[in-house]
Amino acid sequence: MSKRSYESLRSARWFAPDDLRSFGHRSRIMQMGYAPEDWAGRPIIAILNTWSDINPCHSHFKQRVEDVKRGIFQSGGFPIELPAISLSENFVKPTTMLYRNMLAMEAEELLRSHPVDGTVLMGGCDKTTPGLLMGAISAGLPCIFLPAGPMLRGNWKGKVLGSGSDAWKYWDERRAGKITKTEWIGVEGGIARSAGTCMTMGTASTMMAIAESIGMSLPGASSIPAADSNHIRMSSECGRRIVDMVWEDLTPKRIFTRQSFLNAIVVAMAMGCSTNAVIHLVAMSRRAGCPVSLDDFDVASRDIPVIANVRPSGDTYLMEDFFYAGGLPALMERLGDRLDRSQLTVTGRTLGENIAGAEVYNDDVIRPLDNPLYHEGALAVLRGNLAPSGCVIKPSACAPQFLQHTGPALVFDDYPSMKAAVEDENLDVTPEHIMVLRNAGPQGGPGMPEWGMLPIPIKLVKQGVRDMLRVSDARMSGTSYGACILHVAPEAYVGGNLALVKTGDMITVDVPARRIHLEVSDEELAQRRAAWTPPPKVFERGYGWMFSQHILQADSGCDLDFLETEFGAPNREPTI
Ligand code: FES
Ligand code: MG
Repeated sequence: MSKRSYESLRSARWFAPDDLRSFGHRSRIMQMGYAPEDWAGRPIIAILNTWSDINPCHSHFKQRVEDVKRGIFQSGGFPIELPAISLSENFVKPTTMLYRNMLAMEAEELLRSHPVDGTVLMGGCDKTTPGLLMGAISAGLPCIFLPAGPMLRGNWKGKVLGSGSDAWKYWDERRAGKITKTEWIGVEGGIARSAGTCMTMGTASTMMAIAESIGMSLPGASSIPAADSNHIRMSSECGRRIVDMVWEDLTPKRIFTRQSFLNAIVVAMAMGCSTNAVIHLVAMSRRAGCPVSLDDFDVASRDIPVIANVRPSGDTYLMEDFFYAGGLPALMERLGDRLDRSQLTVTGRTLGENIAGAEVYNDDVIRPLDNPLYHEGALAVLRGNLAPSGCVIKPSACAPQFLQHTGPALVFDDYPSMKAAVEDENLDVTPEHIMVLRNAGPQGGPGMPEWGMLPIPIKLVKQGVRDMLRVSDARMSGTSYGACILHVAPEAYVGGNLALVKTGDMITVDVPARRIHLEVSDEELAQRRAAWTPPPKVFERGYGWMFSQHILQADSGCDLDFLETEFGAPNREPTI
């Protein structure tokens, strides 16, 4: 492997010249107690750390960053830790999705403005993975993704608990009067027992697996539980490896290709991925200048079976079990030639070389292709007059009778009115109804909150109903389940046909035919459109205003339009 010269490194422009500016940079590094032996002639590695005091999924990053630094020093680099917005999925309102692009901008500008040659990206909680990767793609420096890893299995009264899924399940049990408040508090204390991300196949597990399948993480890294000592060793290895990646000039441009994105889609399908994967992969690929579309997901979904038996698609296992069963390399090895194994990765080797010989240790957790959990992929893309630009459903996580269904709409214009209505014992609703929530999209939400798993009305819950069809322009958590049709594009707020539906209109959903149709004539829709007035503005100033001016629709990945540039577009370097 040929090695670049020190003088060709970006950071050398700050530190090498014999001039007054560089004097300033060198003296200020030495002000922090570092001698030239620490930094001179070495690549400077940024560690973009999304740790914060209020992100439980990243709470171990405070220690892990020291392991990364150790690895960087061992390999002859000089680490600098740069904190980036943490985007704690649990606590950030109205939704972290409002800020994914802000993290992407922050990551890009942190890298551009500082004297750094490469970066370790520390993320994992839902939006942090795509946010960091989108920023790093645009910055263009060598980078490696260090996944936070899933937390340990939950435990309550000897029962395994899964993030998200079991919260909703037991909440419905509580609403139905099947468990007591004391038991509910027990669930609260048992469902999240260690640092790390949600350990169901939520958005975090999905996106960390996607990062690894694209080639941005060390082999197997994304499956290691956060609390496992393997995670510490993986972290220091990230530090060692990034220094070599800088010398090898192994930039993201060489790793993010259309083929590697298609690999990620295949892996996402086989994992029973979160629906959020669609939005993030579309956005990342457009940043990288090799776009994938909803159609690429639909093609893969018809061919790739779900073989990861992890909740919520499966009903037993969690990410910890997936790790013990061999983890992502074993799953990818099992996918055989469905993956393009020639794609380059952060190891400097191909995907195929990375996973060669990986073994499955438990065929019930990582199923053989001929005994899948679900015969088709995790997601289906539907189109029709209700969603001309598409919408998605996760058929592997919904009751089969809803895959082909016609029923009357029950429409809600906003989340608060829906939330109040579902608790009304006298609500006029049957299990055949299709609940519709609108004004919950990228602009209307704002930020497309995870409201798409509308609660089953209490009246039906008490009758034993646990699933029904729901349609919205919102997203839903990857840990959710049910017959939820999401990401309807264009959204209602910008005048998509979803805005024109009335309670009682019939809607037909046909997943095998990939169709969603509002049974209302074009003439009638035109009349309703003429009478429609756009909702009031959500933002008058600040980041929200900028967001609403530039946010793209769900089928385009919800990036800000001005951030979508291809590799090679002028990225002006700062004047030093
Ligand atoms: Fe962080 Fe689920 S809340 S991954
Ligand atoms: Mg989530």
